[in-house]
Amino acid sequence: MMSAEYGFPRGFILGAATAAYQIEGGWREDGKGPSIWDDFAHRKGKIANNDTGDVASDHYHRWQEDVAIMREIGLDAYRFSISWPRVLPLGRGAVNAKGLGFYDRLVDELLASGIKPYVTLYHWDLPLELQKQGGWSSNDIRSRFAEYAALLASRLGDRVKNWITLNEPWMFVFIGHLLGMHAPGLKNPWKAMRVLHNALCSHGMAVQAIKAERPDSSVGITLSLSPLEPATDTDRDKEATHRADLFMNRLLLDPIFGRGYPEEIRRLLRLFFPKVTQEDLALIATPIDFLGVNTYTRDIIRYDWRVPFLHLWSSISDVPESDFIRNGVQYTTMGVEVYPPSIYQVLARIRDEYGNHPVVITENGSSFTDVVQNGKVDDPKRIAYLDGYLNEVLHAAADGCDVRGYFVWTLMDNMEWSFGCAKRHGLVYVDFKSGQRIPKASAARYAEIIRDSLPGRHGHK
Ligand code: NOJ
Repeated sequence: MMSAEYGFPRGFILGAATAAYQIEGGWREDGKGPSIWDDFAHRKGKIANNDTGDVASDHYHRWQEDVAIMREIGLDAYRFSISWPRVLPLGRGAVNAKGLGFYDRLVDELLASGIKPYVTLYHWDLPLELQKQGGWSSNDIRSRFAEYAALLASRLGDRVKNWITLNEPWMFVFIGHLLGMHAPGLKNPWKAMRVLHNALCSHGMAVQAIKAERPDSSVGITLSLSPLEPATDTDRDKEATHRADLFMNRLLLDPIFGRGYPEEIRRLLRLFFPKVTQEDLALIATPIDFLGVNTYTRDIIRYDWRVPFLHLWSSISDVPESDFIRNGVQYTTMGVEVYPPSIYQVLARIRDEYGNHPVVITENGSSFTDVVQNGKVDDPKRIAYLDGYLNEVLHAAADGCDVRGYFVWTLMDNMEWSFGCAKRHGLVYVDFKSGQRIPKASAARYAEIIRDSLPGRHGHK
């Protein structure tokens, strides 16, 4: 069994993660303003089955029950995101006391349950009002985001010590502004690159704002990172893989770690790059306490002449109806290959190429077709995924990677963005009609891992 193979580092945190839009619902309750995701999901045909986050997992009403489930599992920590327009309906100015009150009570309940809150400031639900003013493509967003960060640090920072500025900027920048499959649904490469640069500058300003308000807090950013492999041994596929790495990984990692945007990608995308000043680069490189990493699998890259400038395509682009096995390998309902060594490879890369900066795995998990039988959900594939990946995290730690925590994606079934509610990633099953929760067998397995590893993690072994 996994924990017997490699020990847990002392102080290692085991948690679960969620995001506001995916679970809360209550989309216009108690003074909440609309977000770009409310707007996007309400456009016909944008989301599978025309699902929306209007109700989602109904966490806005069932949050106490949800914290009780977390307590049952024995989580050390819970990563959740704050809905910016719930707190600031217009994105700036007047605070919605009821909206902030929701998070205030959630934080108190978590702490009373012995669960550390890890708060993400931005998990993709920009206030619609700010989008109307240009959203992330307008330079103004930098100050708006920093003000929002300062507000939360001042109101919650007496109790919240761990902060994540942005969740997966690559995804909201390019899927939202280049491919148009996420909010705000734009397909504009010039805008996309401006959005990327503004998002990273906003991140730097937010780190500084939180530190100014609460010097004792620990602040990071969460990136989506995957190891990439060429589909074949040909030079064309290998070169495509190199470009994919520049575009998907190093485009963000390098500037965050003070190296600026890689020269090669600047050349390749020179038509689209906005003006970048030395001050901007210094801002982006504002020191972070930890790098948050979301990682799910490796990505297989092939040369594709049809894709302008980058000339590449990735295997993750085709999403099936249900999970399947190909050549003896399990895939999830998201078309994600179950490949545990990938998490080791990502961690080893940060160790080898980015100074072994402290890492927290802020997301890792799997979606499978779950069925309720006799009031129970047996999910052996999710358990195998969890055991396999966590084992590789511990393997990496044993090999010297400074990895400090692991958060399962996700606590409960939710609204999986453009895929709607059919892709279930949760440790807890949610009946989207009644709102009923059923902890799956994987929740019991995670509880067992947490309990059994406690002595080692607390240094009593
Ligand atoms: C990454 C995103 O942060 C999260 O919102 C999403 O649900 C998971 N990956 C699974 O696709």
